[in-house]
Amino acid sequence: MSGKSVSPSGAAFDHVAPAYDAEATYLEISRWIRALVWERLAELFSAGDHVLEIGCGTGEDAIWLARRGVSLTASDASAAMLDEARRKAEQAGVSDLIAFRQLDLATVETWNLPAATFDGAISNYGPLNCIGDWTALGRTLAGAVRPGGRLGLAVMGPFCAWETVWHALHGDLRTATRRWRGRTTASIGGVSFPVYYPTPARLARELGPAFQRRRLSGLGVWLPPSDLYAALGKRSRLARGLLRLERLTAARWPFPYLGDHYWLEMQRVR
Ligand SMILES: C[S@@+](CC[C@H](N)C(=O)[O-])C[C@H]1O[C@@H](n2cnc3c(N)ncnc32)[C@H](O)[C@@H]1O
Repeated sequence: MSGKSVSPSGAAFDHVAPAYDAEATYLEISRWIRALVWERLAELFSAGDHVLEIGCGTGEDAIWLARRGVSLTASDASAAMLDEARRKAEQAGVSDLIAFRQLDLATVETWNLPAATFDGAISNYGPLNCIGDWTALGRTLAGAVRPGGRLGLAVMGPFCAWETVWHALHGDLRTATRRWRGRTTASIGGVSFPVYYPTPARLARELGPAFQRRRLSGLGVWLPPSDLYAALGKRSRLARGLLRLERLTAARWPFPYLGDHYWLEMQRVR
């Protein structure tokens, strides 16, 4: 096992690593949403590229990219999540293409990445929500990603229509509006940590002028967020209809601002 996790969010995921895939990754709707991300990753990166992944979790995206010939530095704050990812990469026969590193966003200034070597960086399903200021990350990425390189980031935004409507209808106004303050406290595996919800504009601004926005779409606009999956998962015809709506509308205003996550692509321009 790698070293101990530094920040509370990393330590929290240490507790859930062995069950994470069964409880999150392998849910049907979860797979559909990841497939939408993979469509974008296929546009962004091709065989021979070298990509930095931030908050790789159990390695689903790193393994998918490695199978397509992309090499990765896949990082996470949680030692236990990295252990899962390493095990799965070995099983998938792609471990020679993935270098795993324990990197914590809380100490991004100390990552010491080689200059301008990456063709891009990705972060899927909310690792960037574990910090409340993205300027230091922007500086690190501006140093490590080559000019022209791309970022693909899936981040929880401050307004999720599903969450608001669902919890309001169930009389839980506190949960319905929890993101609106821009910060909540999450508890995973008995460990509490702050979660931040930047708007796409704030995230792009704090990542700095080296990166320019290229694409913004919603993720989980019509398909519900993970804590509501169970309620919908049994109604598969409805879920498939929602997937069709998701595909049709997610990149059109105002839908990028209404999903559980948004997908922000940026390019290094200077
Ligand atoms: C919801 S999971 C997403 C994992 C993976 N990207 C995926 O798509 O399944 C969030 C991940 O962020 C990691 N994480 C939490 N806090 C972090 C931090 N401060 N620095 C880096 N990674 C962190 C967690 O360990 C966890 O693996």
